Amino acid sequence: MKKLELKIAFSEFENETELTQPEQELLQKARQSCNLAYAPYSNFYVGAALLLENGVIISGNNQENVAYPSGICAERVAIYYAGAQYPEVAIKTIAITCKSKSFHLSEPLSPCGSCRQALSEYEMRHKTKIKVILMGETGKIRVMESIADLLPFMFKAEELKKTN
Ligand code: THU
Repeated sequence: MKKLELKIAFSEFENETELTQPEQELLQKARQSCNLAYAPYSNFYVGAALLLENGVIISGNNQENVAYPSGICAERVAIYYAGAQYPEVAIKTIAITCKSKSFHLSEPLSPCGSCRQALSEYEMRHKTKIKVILMGETGKIRVMESIADLLPFMFKAEELKKTN
C-alpha cells in the first residue's frame, strides 16, 4: 500500500484590481449576469462569463425550475450556449460569481461537480486550458489555470477507448 498526495495549484488575490483589465471586465460581466439569474427557490444567484479565443464574451446564469432537478447552473448555461453558437472556438477564461438574497457571500464560489465535469469537456474538446476566476459578492478572488485543477482524476475520453 502506498499513500500518495495530490497537489493542485491556484492563486488568490485580495482585490479585483490585481487582476488584468480583461479579467476584471469578465468578472464584471459575470456579476451583471448574476443579477439577472432566475433563482426564486434557492435565492442563490450565480453568474458566469466566458471569454472565447475570438474575443467574444458569453454569459449565463442559473435558471431554476419548480421541479428542482430541471434547473441548471450558470456555468452550464454559458458553456452550452458557447458550444452551440461557436463550436469551433476555444474558451480561454471563465469568471464565476454569486450572491444570495439571504446572506452575504465573502468567499469565492466553488463550482459544483457537474459543472466541473461539463467544463472539462471543453478543455478536452479544444485541447486548451480554461482559466477559472472565482469570486463571491466581495472578498478574495481565487484563480486556477485549468479546469483540471478543479477536477483531479477527471473522467477522460481515453477511458472509453481502453481495451484492457
Ligand atoms: N449553482 C450554480 O449556478 N453554479 C454552481 O456552481 C453551484 C450552484 C446554482 C444552482 C441553483 O440554482 C443554486 O445555485 C443553488 O444551488
